[in-house]
Amino acid sequence: MEKPAQTQYPIESSLSQRWSPRSFADKGVDKETLRSLFEAARWSASSRNEQPWRFVVATQDKPQGHSALADVLVPSNRRWAVKAPVLILGIARLDFEYNGKPNGHARYDLGAAVTSMLVEATARGLSAHQMAGFDAQKARQTYQIPENFEPVVVVALGHAGAAEALPEELAEREKAPRSRLEQDAIIFEDAFGQSW
Ligand SMILES: Cc1cc2nc3c(=O)[nH]c(=O)nc-3n(C[C@H](O)[C@H](O)[C@H](O)COP(=O)(O)O)c2cc1C
Repeated sequence: MEKPAQTQYPIESSLSQRWSPRSFADKGVDKETLRSLFEAARWSASSRNEQPWRFVVATQDKPQGHSALADVLVPSNRRWAVKAPVLILGIARLDFEYNGKPNGHARYDLGAAVTSMLVEATARGLSAHQMAGFDAQKARQTYQIPENFEPVVVVALGHAGAAEALPEELAEREKAPRSRLEQDAIIFEDAFGQSW
C-alpha cells in the first residue's frame, strides 16, 4: 500500500513517499540492503562528528533474536510490529567520547541518522515505522546497554503490506489520510508565532 504526502510544495519522492505502515508483507529484507540502510545512517551529520548512534538489529530469519526485540515493545505496538521482518533498536550515547561531558544533541543526531536510514529505505521501496512505545529499561537489560547510552527508539522495517491484513480498527488507521501542520503554523519571522 502507498500513502504519499499531499505536499504544499514539491519535494523529493524519497521524502514524500515515506509513511509509517503497521501492515508488513511476508517478505524479508536481504542483508546487503540492510547494510546499505545502516550505511546511510553512518554518513549522517552529528555534533562534533561524535556519531553517537548505535543500533541493535533483529531479523525474522533469527526468530529468537527477533522475538527478544519484539518483547521490549508495548503490547499495542508489538501486536503489529512483530510481523515486520526487521526490528531495529536505536541507541544514543549521551556523553561526549572526547571529554565525558553530556552531549545535549545526541538524541538529535540519532534521529537524523534514523531519518537518513528511512530515506534510503523509502528509495529502495521499503517502509519503516518508528516507535517510542517500548520498555527502555527492558531493552537496557536485554542488551546489556551501558549507563551512558540510552535506548531511544525501535524501528519496524520491511515491505508495506495490505491494510486488510490488520485487525479492523488498525486497518482504519492505516487507510486514514496523513496530516501535517500548515507551513504558516511552524515557520516564523521576527517573533515566535509570527508566520513567515
Ligand atoms: C519518535 C517517534 C515515535 C513514534 N512512536 C510510535 C509508537 O510508539 N507507535 C506508533 O504506532 N507510531 C509511532 N510513531 C509513528 C508516528 O505516529 C507517525 O510517524 C506520525 O503519525 C506521522 O505519520 P507518517 O510517519 O506516516 O507520516 C512514532 C514516530 C516517531 C518519529
